[in-house]
Amino acid sequence: MHKSYGVNEIREMFLKFYETKEHLRLPSFSLIPQNDASLLLINSGMAPMKPYFTGEVEPPRHRVCTCQKCIRTGDIENIGKTSRHGTYFEMLGNFSFGDYFKKEAIAWCWEFLTSPEWLGLEADRLYPSVFAGDETTPADEEAFEIWNKDVGIAAERIFRFGKADNFWEHGSGPCGPCSEVYYDRGPEYGCGKPDCTVGCDCDRYIEVWNNVFSQFDNDGQGNYTELKQKNIDVGAGLERLACVSQNVESLFDIDTVMNITRKVSGITGATYGQSHQKDVSLRVITDHIRSATMMICDGVLPSNEGRGYVLRRLLRRAARHGKLLGVDKPFLFEVCAVVIQENASAYPDLKEKEPYITRVIRMEEESFAKTIDSGMRIFTEMLDGHKEKGEKTFSGADAFKLYDTYGFPIDLTA
Ligand code: ALA
Repeated sequence: MHKSYGVNEIREMFLKFYETKEHLRLPSFSLIPQNDASLLLINSGMAPMKPYFTGEVEPPRHRVCTCQKCIRTGDIENIGKTSRHGTYFEMLGNFSFGDYFKKEAIAWCWEFLTSPEWLGLEADRLYPSVFAGDETTPADEEAFEIWNKDVGIAAERIFRFGKADNFWEHGSGPCGPCSEVYYDRGPEYGCGKPDCTVGCDCDRYIEVWNNVFSQFDNDGQGNYTELKQKNIDVGAGLERLACVSQNVESLFDIDTVMNITRKVSGITGATYGQSHQKDVSLRVITDHIRSATMMICDGVLPSNEGRGYVLRRLLRRAARHGKLLGVDKPFLFEVCAVVIQENASAYPDLKEKEPYITRVIRMEEESFAKTIDSGMRIFTEMLDGHKEKGEKTFSGADAFKLYDTYGFPIDLTA
């Protein structure tokens, strides 16, 4: 069995490892994209560095490593329902801007993951994959050969997947075929189907690493041109690696995140792992307060549009789930203290801005509470109206009006 490392240890270990490979360690960029209209929030390690990939801007060094704060809110409605997803995560990354390419990227990925000096995962639980090719782009035989010949992985342990899995692009900009690494968490996490293997949708084989060979530039309309230089864009989810290293079920069970949930439990009295419904609320609150704290620290304020609206939605969803757990007063501003404490070693500005972040969260909670109070009054009047007319159901039209005009959440009406 491998050794278990904390989130903060893994982050530091990764950055140190790439420093030994002559990478320049840069701090995380802000969650607010600069000069990039294609993104509302930074969603990957490479996103803030697009001009280095295209060659438009000279990087401070041609080898860089970062741990980047990321937010993805695409499936926000599903967050909490399962333990798989979160809106906030950190992406560990090493990057080559026209410097090294596939050979080094793959060799170092393997060294970091398996060497007992570093993360030390069991090699026989790891499975690489390579791009299988399609009508427009050939199969990545080069990556296959490197895994097979240089690293020494048997051919039958190397999987070939199509564009959906093994071609990385997000919006416009640098993209290319990729080679991912999966970790087998064991049959106890599996779906039990006879054909369950790497690539299965269940929780057994999870992707822990993505080596992207950024060779193309996508203009955002699906037109690809070959980039002047060949680049490496590696992304490894810090929370995922921590899950595997700590041998726990999900992102909500890793050390730093669990400490946040514990704080929420202390306030709400709801313990994680006791009922599905309460777990959903605990996960929503824990995840959303992480995102919100980081966004506010980077200068986002709650508002009714763009990034500000994303933040408002996160805070209001979290507050609403607090209500579902029976909390009748602002409480998120207290939870944010734990988020700050758990992340302070990596992001010292959190501590400096703590009073400000706390104040912003508290004000938003108070204003939302007012919305809820007045919404409740209108709801009660509507309900009485339905009763007077002898109607047995609350109308969809009223539920919509409450939501649309008064900002009253639909699931509270339900
Ligand atoms: N940019 C790649 C990803 O986000 C590494 O997976």
